[in-house]
Amino acid sequence: MSASSLVVAMDGPSGTGKSSVSRQLAQQLGARYLDTGAMYRIATLHVLRKGVDLGDPDAIADATAGLPWSIGTDPTREQVLLDGEDVAQEIRGDAVTKAVSAVSAVPAVRARLVDAQRRLTGEASRIVVEGRDIGTVVLPDADVKIFLTASAAARAQRRNAQNLAEGRGDDYAEVLADVERRDHLDSTRAVSPLRPADDSVLVDTSELGIDDVIGRLLLVVSERTGAV
Ligand code: DC
Repeated sequence: MSASSLVVAMDGPSGTGKSSVSRQLAQQLGARYLDTGAMYRIATLHVLRKGVDLGDPDAIADATAGLPWSIGTDPTREQVLLDGEDVAQEIRGDAVTKAVSAVSAVPAVRARLVDAQRRLTGEASRIVVEGRDIGTVVLPDADVKIFLTASAAARAQRRNAQNLAEGRGDDYAEVLADVERRDHLDSTRAVSPLRPADDSVLVDTSELGIDDVIGRLLLVVSERTGAV
């Protein structure tokens, strides 16, 4: 495997298998992995803990200035700290999932987190960066840009299966409604709406298992960079 530098931008909506795919791809490429969604989730947990009104963007911006957080980039283990506390589980809970769109729509929050994302990317020579606006806004010069898609039904089924496996109930209709609600919020917000970069490669994962997706992405990386 080549040790040359490589930046892969991995965007797409939730429920496409994007996180598992990004982690595994990073491991196969001998690269670091940055989960930018986790960063928005940490900011959201902080806002919720401070009891800030989610309808008040200025208050959200104030509450997230000097956020006491840190995130690791090892693809084999999640390291997410808020005030020194491991919050990896809590940021995946319902309260954060419901509030995160409101927090991630605040321009001042995005500006700070985008700065941090660029800094963390610069510290790694090979990295897979996962999010919604990586290829369009955060890293427009990424070597490879991938946009993972899947039908809303396929994404809701995956999320529901994950909820079941993790003991968080089984309500497909509610999960589907949440997937559609978040899609709408994420793609219509004024700042950095979710959309593929013009030069990204679209991969639809509705009918593909993770190994097929990884195989396809390794091919894309090797085609775009000349080497894996
Ligand atoms: O990938 P995720 O579900 O953990 O992301 C959580 C939320 O953060 C989701 O509502 C979209 C938002 N997000 C964003 O606005 N920009 C990013 N680069 C990553 C995530």
